[in-house]
Amino acid sequence: MKKKMSVLDFKKFKAEGRKFAYITAYDYTTASIVDESNVEVILVGDSLGMTMLGYSSTVPVTMEQMIHHTTAVVKGAPNTFIAGDMPFGSYEVSVEEAVRNAIRLFKESGCDCIKLEGGTKYVDRVHAITEAGVPVMGHIGLTPQNATQLGGYKVQGGTPEGAAELIEDAKNLEKAGAFSIVVECVPSVVAKAIAKAVSVPILGIGAGPDVDCQVLVLQDMLGMYPDFRPKFVKIFADVRAEMLKGLNKFHEETLSGEFPSPEYSFNKEVDLSKLY
Ligand code: KIV
Repeated sequence: MKKKMSVLDFKKFKAEGRKFAYITAYDYTTASIVDESNVEVILVGDSLGMTMLGYSSTVPVTMEQMIHHTTAVVKGAPNTFIAGDMPFGSYEVSVEEAVRNAIRLFKESGCDCIKLEGGTKYVDRVHAITEAGVPVMGHIGLTPQNATQLGGYKVQGGTPEGAAELIEDAKNLEKAGAFSIVVECVPSVVAKAIAKAVSVPILGIGAGPDVDCQVLVLQDMLGMYPDFRPKFVKIFADVRAEMLKGLNKFHEETLSGEFPSPEYSFNKEVDLSKLY
């Protein structure tokens, strides 16, 4: 059985050059499967707004929904480090509100850290939440909660100025207390430079191979979510096709009467003669 990572292990893994893997999960059953796998970290991402709730973006996701899903994942994956995502609107307004909501998510769900999107502009939140005793994972590059402002789901840091800004963001997040940083959708060379600039691990999603950890959305890498497939997603198993096969077989056997056979029925004899 795998040993659950601690916050301290993140920096240690990076110092030792030891890579690890990070996947999303939003429910008990999926979390229990990830827990049984060798994947070290789970993110209960606000991407659940799209994959679980059918919204077209992460913007409508609420604190209550994040707590609801994160609580289920925590129950299903006792041996896996779990990050809970702060939804849009839960940390932008003030430092105080950010701390209050971070404590709520951490305390009510039992997750191991919270993640929030944004670089230098939110280092005051990262510092205050960390000081309050809640470990913080940063998230820079493409920040999906601001996709509209960024002009869509686009590669970030594609200019020397943009790259320099991301490196600065990462350094400032580390200084503020972030123990790891998600870097999403940036050119590989830029992600490599960010990873070199800080001593906390860079958790890359669409950030190339030269980072400390790879992140993917589970529904993407198992081919389950058909609405949108970013370039960086590799399908590791076609679970959607397998599910469709199973569902159609169930339908076929229901219509033919092949299911349920005696094996799947309660075959005890009961005398019904007195009923007629
Ligand atoms: O919500 C999410 O799934 C994320 C990942 C894309 C990193 O933030």
